[in-house]
Amino acid sequence: MSAADTILERYQAVMFPAAVPYHGDAPVVVDRAQDQYVWDIEGNRYLDFFGGVLTVSVGHCNAEVTERTIEQLKKVQHTSTIYINEIMVQVAEKVAELAPGRLQKCYFTSTGTEANETAIMAARMYTGNPTVITLRHAYSGRSMTAMSLTAHGAWRLGGVIDPYIRHVRNPYTFRAPAGLTPEQVVDLCVQDLEETLATVTDGKIAAFMAEPIQGVGGFIVPPADYFQRVAPIVRAAGGVFIADEVQTGWGRTGDKWFGIEHWGVEPDIMTFAKGMANGSPIGCTITTPEIADAVKGLTFATFGGNPVTMATALATIEYIEKHDLKGNAAVQGAHLRSKLEELQAEFPFIGEVRGMGLMQALEFVHPETNDPDAARTNAFLNAAKSRGLLLGKGGLYGNVVRISPHLNTTAEDINAACEIIAAALGDVRG
Ligand SMILES: Cc1ncc(COP(=O)(O)O)c(C=O)c1O
Repeated sequence: MSAADTILERYQAVMFPAAVPYHGDAPVVVDRAQDQYVWDIEGNRYLDFFGGVLTVSVGHCNAEVTERTIEQLKKVQHTSTIYINEIMVQVAEKVAELAPGRLQKCYFTSTGTEANETAIMAARMYTGNPTVITLRHAYSGRSMTAMSLTAHGAWRLGGVIDPYIRHVRNPYTFRAPAGLTPEQVVDLCVQDLEETLATVTDGKIAAFMAEPIQGVGGFIVPPADYFQRVAPIVRAAGGVFIADEVQTGWGRTGDKWFGIEHWGVEPDIMTFAKGMANGSPIGCTITTPEIADAVKGLTFATFGGNPVTMATALATIEYIEKHDLKGNAAVQGAHLRSKLEELQAEFPFIGEVRGMGLMQALEFVHPETNDPDAARTNAFLNAAKSRGLLLGKGGLYGNVVRISPHLNTTAEDINAACEIIAAALGDVRG
């Protein structure tokens, strides 16, 4: 038995079966990683184009970031929020400086789930309304509230669901009723929102929450005016607008710091996690002074604002800024996109190429019917892995390949990845 198989067997003996790794019976057992590469314990090297789910934003063990993490680790590791540390204030100041509009009060936690919990709690306390509207195909995390917000049946476990959360149609143009133009899809979504408000709410809501591009949903990019159409309806119902930037934040979508900035809507609350700290556990909720003030009473997160995490976050954000990685995400994202479109022309089972910046996806279909093809997607991901490239999976139907290299990726890495993608597409051509 190989060393990897032995570890897999031990893993299966002591872990919840629901914690399923990628690649079936042959998961990657990671030994180490550096910059764009990951090595497994057998010494195989992989080019990482998923970044631990869009989390390693500036490369594995990035030298500049890691040095600052270690410096802080030696200075003070943990105090909890019952004491103040300056580095937490520095990160909050930086987030407030970069965030759009009047967003300037932060609350730190350790995960995107908690960032979203904080956002929903704040919206409910501010408005006095319990109802939250969110989108089908959303993924919001794994607490009970976050699973209630999530609209992928498979990710909603435990049966305890928040009764005040309503899901409306998402602007998924590729899978909208046949023949509708993107404009008509937006009309349909807006109509669904209005009908939902009129039928299953009392007309008053706490919030509308959405990912600017749905991540786990399969990098679903809305038509450009979708959020502009939705925002006034949300506000007329007394609700605040929450942008879940857990995947789209920190330059990922190219040219802008945050995904929502592409859509011309000023959010009242934004939530962050993942790429904000290059792999250190972080959650952050930012909002306006009025909304933050409405959160009255006691609330506490032991690891919120942890100095080591904060040092890593500050180093990561400064690295993105210093190297203009949101600019790089736009340039390299366009390069990646054009190569993927060339491949689409060659492989008819790629139904759609979509995304923004360094958040690009391929939706696999049965070409004759356009129905989702999850089996070929899995086979493709395994083929890419065997050839030394790590990619992600997503979509309600498990038929979307998610491609999200580190923000400091290069044209050479993209060319190398696309060569492997082309070969792996050939492997599964059938
Ligand atoms: C958009 C979005 N929001 C929230 C979460 C939850 O984040 P976490 O897994 O850190 O709790 C995720 C995780 O994938 C996500 O993609």
